[in-house]
Amino acid sequence: MEYANDKDFYPAPFPSSGLQTFDLQRISLAKLLNGDPQEGKRVFNIGSNDGFFYLDLTTHAKGLQILELAHKMHHIGKGVMENTPLEEKRTFPIRPAYVGLLDTGYKALCIDKDGNPDRLEMFNISQAGLFAGNEDYKLPPWLASHETIFRTMIRESNNIHNTILAILEPQLQIPTGSLTSLHRLTSPSGAWLRVLHYPATADGKPLPNPPTPPHKDAVSLAMLFAWQGGLQITPANNPNIADHEEEDPKDWYWVAPQPGCALINFGDAMSVLTNNVIKAGKHRVCSPPGEQCKYSRISVLTSARPAETTMMRPFKSPVIPQPAGNDDALTALQWGMEKVRKTLANVQRGNEKAAAEQIAKEKEAAARPQLLVASA
Ligand SMILES: [Fe+2]
Repeated sequence: MEYANDKDFYPAPFPSSGLQTFDLQRISLAKLLNGDPQEGKRVFNIGSNDGFFYLDLTTHAKGLQILELAHKMHHIGKGVMENTPLEEKRTFPIRPAYVGLLDTGYKALCIDKDGNPDRLEMFNISQAGLFAGNEDYKLPPWLASHETIFRTMIRESNNIHNTILAILEPQLQIPTGSLTSLHRLTSPSGAWLRVLHYPATADGKPLPNPPTPPHKDAVSLAMLFAWQGGLQITPANNPNIADHEEEDPKDWYWVAPQPGCALINFGDAMSVLTNNVIKAGKHRVCSPPGEQCKYSRISVLTSARPAETTMMRPFKSPVIPQPAGNDDALTALQWGMEKVRKTLANVQRGNEKAAAEQIAKEKEAAARPQLLVASA
């Protein structure tokens, strides 16, 4: 595979020992596209349990195409993140705070003392912005020349997301098209293509707190392309612990990126639509492990989200338990806004707290020699 040994992608190896890792199942895209019933069952079982799997893209030309696009996205992401001044990046606005949906625009979670993005920065390209035609959507000059690649990446990702969703329909005993019709490329939905940049720390050591604290995604499906480690999952997925709360440290497992594979996870929208028959995978993102920590990390993420007008209530099906009580379902837009706002506030709070602690530590360290001199 082209790029397989490129230092930009793999600046250091994922540690081969000493880490608690989780060996996710590997699903073949070719088998899914060919309607292999056993592979379909495996996807359903994964959705009923851990909620994460490797999708082997090398098995089909469609997979190789999206892999190539993901590599291009990595190059674009690295280039613009490293070379575009912060003020210029900020000309690509996110939605107003009351909307909350982080489906478009540039965001830096923290700025360091020298005025540079710290811990995590990202840009989002709105699927609806490029395909729904319901808004005057324009990319900023620093991204506009890449619009064709963004469009192709979003379109091909949407095909893969819908391939997976279509496989679940008969197993959930819901009519054909029940899920895929909610995830059309051209429907306003809040779906996005995202590039994340985790700058390396100044001292090359891992951050004490994960830049992305524990959460479940406010999407139906997410497809992650990552080359360095960082993602951790908790297979225990303890239902008694809130989405944003830490699990027991021993329950967090590293997920090693596999060349040629994307990482797929089910999001919370699927757990609502199936009343938890399909479970969202809880995860967090830490500094990369081992030697990889010395290098900045870029990852590329695509999402499938239900169309904005979808009522977020479980499908009627003999295999989906029906909730008791009043039907006070939100639309996917209302549900998504609320969920993203909460997650984002939690991520922001965690990062600001960690950044403040870091500054306090540095100040303390800087003051120490002077105190010694003063007392000498
Ligand atoms: Fe996530």
